[in-house]
Amino acid sequence: MRSYSLIAPAKINLYLEIIGNRPDGYHELAMILQSIDIADQINLQAASTEEIHVYCNHPQVPADQSNLAYRAAELMARQFPDVFSNFGGIDITVTKRIPVAAGLAGGSTNAAAVLVGIDLLWDLGLTKSELEELGATLGSDVSFCISGGTAIATGRGELLSPLPSLNQIHLVLAKYLSLEVSTPWAYKTYRQEFGNSYVKNTEDLVARANAVHSGEMVKAILDKDAAKISQKLHNDLEKVVLPAYPQVLQLRELFATQEGVLGTMMSGSGPSVFAIVESKAQAEIVKQQIRTAIPDEDLELFVTQTIANGIQILQGTGNR
Ligand code: C5P
Repeated sequence: MRSYSLIAPAKINLYLEIIGNRPDGYHELAMILQSIDIADQINLQAASTEEIHVYCNHPQVPADQSNLAYRAAELMARQFPDVFSNFGGIDITVTKRIPVAAGLAGGSTNAAAVLVGIDLLWDLGLTKSELEELGATLGSDVSFCISGGTAIATGRGELLSPLPSLNQIHLVLAKYLSLEVSTPWAYKTYRQEFGNSYVKNTEDLVARANAVHSGEMVKAILDKDAAKISQKLHNDLEKVVLPAYPQVLQLRELFATQEGVLGTMMSGSGPSVFAIVESKAQAEIVKQQIRTAIPDEDLELFVTQTIANGIQILQGTGNR
């Protein structure tokens, strides 16, 4: 049986600015997205059942049709019905390491891996931009997750401008296991509270997006300067999530006061919070300090770092 194993890394937001409303109900964003080395493993196996099945080791991850990995496979089956019926079904096994519902694009990166893996499994030969286009129909972060690395993302989050890779920036990342923030709630609340500052026309929208392209954060990334990057971290969604979730605020404040922390920010709509530190050794110290301050086992802590890639093929037995 043909099969592929892929590595699907998480992302953090180094920058997230909400610029305006969109007619489709989403928001115009200007983000800088960054892959990190916390990753899930996705195994795809051709099956003889003519059905798509998802298996996951994590109790909170649904194995049904609401799973983004399932929807990615279903999309491919719809796009390429003849190939699908020729190859039969697909068994998808997700081994989770990325905290779920965390603002780390865990579901999106799984979907990205399924698109990349099925392209290989079925010998489709799709280009990266064809895969990104398919990904954008599944979720705003899926396109980024395909190639990953460091990129400016505008529009809904699917219009990507890659930046030079920024690997080995050391991070500590924290997430309360039982805490979830609804992404639609975060955006809706932001719109209610801050929507009157949104841009009113396309010209202003382009100007704001251009400002991010030529802004201080991009300069800091080009200089690979962790201290400057840390000073320019930004996430508009903090304005609604931190006041509503005192635990996240507390984490954020605790990180900010730790020696060796260059900067700290919530990722996406949260509730995970990351801190940039100078070295891996420093990251281990900060992790230990946070653990001592919050001995609660519900708090998951990771030492991680930025990486230069998105979906990686671990092994495969197809024709390529
Ligand atoms: O696209 P995705 O499914 O990841 O988005 C999750 C939710 O986040 C959307 O349902 C929407 O409420 C919000 N969102 C938004 N504008 C964006 C991206 C996401 O309002 N550009």
